[in-house]
Amino acid sequence: MAPNLIKACLFGLASGSCVLAKPTTAGCPGLTVSHEGTPAGTFKNISGIQIYHTHPPRSAKPGKINTAILYVTDIFGAADLQNKLLADSIARANYAVIMPDLFSGNPVPANALSDPTFNFPAWLARHPVSESDNAIATTIAYMRNELGVQKIGAAGYCWGGKYVPRFLAAGQGIDVGFIAHPSNLATDEIMGIKGPISIAAGDLDDAFNATSRRTAEDILFSKNTTYQTSLYAGAPHGFGTRVDLSNTRQKFAKEAAFLQAVTWFDAWL
Ligand SMILES: *[C@@H]1O[C@H](CO)[C@@H](O)[C@H](O)[C@H]1NC(C)=O
Ligand SMILES: *[C@@H]1O[C@H](CO)[C@@H](O)[C@H](O)[C@H]1NC(C)=O
Ligand SMILES: *[C@@H]1O[C@H](CO)[C@@H](O)[C@H](O)[C@H]1NC(C)=O
Repeated sequence: MAPNLIKACLFGLASGSCVLAKPTTAGCPGLTVSHEGTPAGTFKNISGIQIYHTHPPRSAKPGKINTAILYVTDIFGAADLQNKLLADSIARANYAVIMPDLFSGNPVPANALSDPTFNFPAWLARHPVSESDNAIATTIAYMRNELGVQKIGAAGYCWGGKYVPRFLAAGQGIDVGFIAHPSNLATDEIMGIKGPISIAAGDLDDAFNATSRRTAEDILFSKNTTYQTSLYAGAPHGFGTRVDLSNTRQKFAKEAAFLQAVTWFDAWL
């Protein structure tokens, strides 16, 4: 049984019995990712930014004191069901999770990828890097100054996979990072990473392909960063948040990337 599963059992996250001899998350519902359901968290208006807050269940034993996770979304934003359910899933693994709206209430619509009339370049032009940078900086200040968080782990998906490294640079406010299938991640952003970073990549993802992954690995290795990269077979761009559940490779990739994130935070945050 993986250490994080043992920990979840010890923390009492499991409602059933945790059979230590059988390495499965089935007995540890705290460590499964929800693909469907009703979101557990709530939005609060913080300095004009809608921020989703979701917490470990009341029955959970206290986790690490004064830590929390900043969830940095994909282009579908904080109001998207899959993003809320994934944030809730991380919360069930015993972390308070804070997820800001990066797009001022105007994310990419849920059906955009199948809508030929959706103008993605025009959407991109309305959402510059500075907009997400500002939302994240405001959220980090809120977490530290108002919520009293002292160590921040961050999970970033697609769009968010660029911003976690930006804020994992020295003095930018994130202590430990996990990213899945980052888009537009620049070499200098990888160079700037100061804290532990875990990367989930899919072998069908053109946005973070084999060349990008190898470049990232070479940089992190040369800097002696504490890093991990995991490559998932048959996993397309976006697999960390939304997959075709009837495709067993995709379903595995999403669930394993979730465990990868939780294990990483358990070890380094
Ligand atoms: C959120 O709060 C700001 C002030 O911080 C206020 O100007 C704005 O109207 C509020 N927005 C909503 C949707 O409540
Ligand atoms: C990855 O994408 C870059 C930029 O499009 C390209 O130059 C490179 O050849 C690609 N690598 C692979 C292995 O496809
Ligand atoms: C790499 O980092 C580890 C952990 O901080 C340290 O023990 C080790 O000495 C470093 N290696 C080099 C070559 O700097």
